[in-house]
Amino acid sequence: MPKPRIVTGYRPTGKLHLGHWFGNLQNMIAMQRRYQAFWFIADWHALTSHWQDTSHIRVFTEEMVLDWCAAGIDPSVSTIYRQSDVPEVAELALYFDMITPMGWLERVPSYKEQREQITDKDLSNVGFFLYPTLMAADIAITLAQAVPVGEDQAPHLELTREIVRRFNGTWGEYLVEPKALIPEEGARVPGTDGRKMSKSYGNAIFISDSPEEIRAKVMSMITDPARKLKTDPGDPDICPLQQIHKLVGAPDVVAEFDACCRAAECGCVAHKKKLVEDLTEYLREFRERRAELAAVPGFAWEVLAGGAERVRPVAAEVIANCRRVVRIDGREEPASPSERDADDAQEPF
Ligand code: ADP
Ligand code: TRP
Repeated sequence: MPKPRIVTGYRPTGKLHLGHWFGNLQNMIAMQRRYQAFWFIADWHALTSHWQDTSHIRVFTEEMVLDWCAAGIDPSVSTIYRQSDVPEVAELALYFDMITPMGWLERVPSYKEQREQITDKDLSNVGFFLYPTLMAADIAITLAQAVPVGEDQAPHLELTREIVRRFNGTWGEYLVEPKALIPEEGARVPGTDGRKMSKSYGNAIFISDSPEEIRAKVMSMITDPARKLKTDPGDPDICPLQQIHKLVGAPDVVAEFDACCRAAECGCVAHKKKLVEDLTEYLREFRERRAELAAVPGFAWEVLAGGAERVRPVAAEVIANCRRVVRIDGREEPASPSERDADDAQEPF
C-alpha cells in the first residue's frame, strides 16, 4: 500500500524565519518519513504579489532549499520542487477558475487584508485575486490528503476543500479533499514587535541570522507594554520575548523567568540576554549544517531537478484523469471513481 500523500508550499519572497520554523517546518520534518511528502517553492505565487520586481525569486528559491535541507528535510525522502516546474498545476488552476464563484475569492480574509495593508505593491492584478484557486491546484495536483501549514493558512485550506467539492460535484468524484495540519505550539509565532512574525512586517528573526543579528534583534524586542519599570510586575503571557523563549529554552529556565517577571524580581534586559544565548545555541547546529550545504556548488538546483523528476509523473497522471472527468479529453466516457488513487482509501488524518 503506498503511503498517503502530504504537500505544502512556501513563497520565495524572503528568508525563512522562526515563524516558519515553528509554525510549519518542524511539522514537515516530523512527517516526511511517515508519508509521501511533497514540498514545493511556490514561485508563481510569489509573482502574484511581486510581479513588478522578480529579481529576488531565484536567490530566495535557492536559500529556501538550503534552509529546508539544513533544518532536516531530507531530499532523498521528500520530493522538493518548484511549482513552475509543474505546468499541470496551471492547467488544473484553470479548471478551478471555471467553477469558482468570484464571491468565494472576494471573501478570503487575506485578500481583503492584504489589499488594505500592503500599500507599496500594486495588488489590483487578476493573478493576486486568483491566488486561492492556484493554491487549491498546488494541493489537488498531488491528490494529497493533508497539508501542514501555519494557522494563517486555515481559510485558504477551507476554500481549497470547497473548490475540490465543487469540482467533484460538477464533473465527477475524483479529487481529494485535503485537511489542514496546524501545529498546536508555534501556530502563530510573534515577531520582534509583537505582531505575527512575517517577512512583510520587518519584524522577523531569520533562522539563518548570524549570532550578531540575533543579538541586535532580540535586544530590540518589545515586551509587555504595560511594564514600564523593573519594579512593575509583568505579564509573560502577552510578552513576545517569553513566547519565543518557551519555544527554544529549557522549560525550567523559562518557568523561572516567567515567575520572576510576574513578581517584578527580574528585568526584561536580563531576560533578553538569556534569550540571545538560548536562541543562538538552539540554531547553532542548523547554522553549521547550512554553511556546509551552501559550500556544495549547485546543491539547491540539483535537489530541485531531482524533485521535478519525481513529481512530474504524479502531476501528469492526475491532469490526464482530470481531463477525462471534465470530459475534454475526447473520449466518450468520463473516468470512473474507481480510478481514484488507491491511497486515499485509508483515512490516517
Ligand atoms: P510570511 O507571512 O512571512 O510571508 P509565508 O506566507 O511564506 O510567510 O508562510 C509560509 C508558511 O509558514 C505558511 O504555512 C505559514 O502559515 C507559516 N507561517 C508564516 N509565518 C508564521 C508565523 N509567524 N507563525 C506561524 N506560522 C507561520
Ligand atoms: N499560501 C501559502 C503562504 O502564503 C503558500 C502556498 C502556496 C501553499 N500554495 C500552497 C501552502 C499550497 C500550502 C499548500 O504561505
